[in-house]
Amino acid sequence: MTTRYRVEYALKSHRRDQFIEWIKGLLAVPFVLHSQPTAHYQENSPSLALLAARTHERYVDIMHDVEGLINDHRNHQKSDNSGRSKLKLLVPSIGNFFTPLLLTDAFRYQDKKRFISRRRFVPPSFNDIRIVLNTAQLMGLIQDDRVELITFDGDVTLYDDGASLTADNPVIPRIIRLLHQGKRIGIVTAAGYTEAPRYYERLHGLLDSVNKSPNLTTAQKDSLIVMGGESNFLFKFDSSSPHLLSHVEPSEWLLDEMKLWGEEDITELLDIAEAALRDCMSNLNLPAAILRKTRAVGIYPLDGKRMQREQLEETVLVAQQTVESSPVGRRLPFCAFNGGNDVFIDIGDKSYGVLACQRYFGGIDRSRTLHIGDQFLSAGSNDFKARLACTTAWVSNPGETVQLLDELDELEREKK
Ligand code: IMP
Ligand code: MG
Repeated sequence: MTTRYRVEYALKSHRRDQFIEWIKGLLAVPFVLHSQPTAHYQENSPSLALLAARTHERYVDIMHDVEGLINDHRNHQKSDNSGRSKLKLLVPSIGNFFTPLLLTDAFRYQDKKRFISRRRFVPPSFNDIRIVLNTAQLMGLIQDDRVELITFDGDVTLYDDGASLTADNPVIPRIIRLLHQGKRIGIVTAAGYTEAPRYYERLHGLLDSVNKSPNLTTAQKDSLIVMGGESNFLFKFDSSSPHLLSHVEPSEWLLDEMKLWGEEDITELLDIAEAALRDCMSNLNLPAAILRKTRAVGIYPLDGKRMQREQLEETVLVAQQTVESSPVGRRLPFCAFNGGNDVFIDIGDKSYGVLACQRYFGGIDRSRTLHIGDQFLSAGSNDFKARLACTTAWVSNPGETVQLLDELDELEREKK
């Protein structure tokens, strides 16, 4: 692998979302043609408003056409022919959609909030489009169906990286609202602990609030589960347990395919991953230590140290490639990801995690499940795999998660 290959392909192309970049390119055309960066308008003048209205209509037209391409792709999907859709030709990395995306309505909705069409100097950005896609997904989910299960990533989605879900977190009343509405909630995190106390430590604010909530019935409280280690350890809310969580027997949630994951293979895969991590530690002189667990192996920084982003990315890509090219890496699913200041290789991934939650709740459909996470790049990210199991929303911080849940509530009310 040459250095150029790494820079151009391994780092850059995997660090971009092709679908979002493609939409960004489409919207850049009307932006370039309509924006008037040299005109000396008053920012609130009628001519500028007229220009903004015209640009808005162009953006909406484009979103309408993309929505049509997604519908066409979904029709191909239904006949197992999604590889031949026009969208697949245009965006080769595109996956399956479990619901339509109402991009036209979503763009109108977000343009009212973000004033994208009024900008003369800054074109529609990655974040604008990511947020429009999230809204389009919510609208698609509730259009003629309902959301039954929402799964959340932990770090960066519910709380800051490495922090805990404390009692003052504004997401708590929102999750309680969802439970009260009869929705099922799963926290599907990479954090992999075999015992309840460690999860209580990370999630105590939510668990205590659910426990004390006078508005929730026992059945509603029982609709809260925690899947740890991507897809390895399931716990359910349990008010009689001192840590408010109790372990769920694998027979209640393990998918058939997961029953075939043998202990010998698991050890072999983790040995290979550990060796790759050790090589990186010495090659890149990382200020880190190895952490080996039953279903994961990782590196974490020594006290007071931080690793550079480039070191973390290089380590993930090396570990991923090493495991992928080993025979056991082809038999057993795994997930290598950059956790912000650590790198982990976990057995399984969040697609299994979400599918197992669906199974535990009696078989919830993919089109009625939403996973909210912050890691959706194709390499070195762990929420990405959830896209195989359900619809997804991509947030960049816990504040956006709160906003998204409020948006869902607003849209559901409007629909009623
Ligand atoms: P997530 O964002 O909720 O998926 O959590 C990811 C973080 O959990 C990682 O960055 C690690 O800091 C932490 N973590 C703790 N134990 C594990 C493990 O066994 N595998 C992966 N990550 C772990
Ligand atoms: Mg995260």
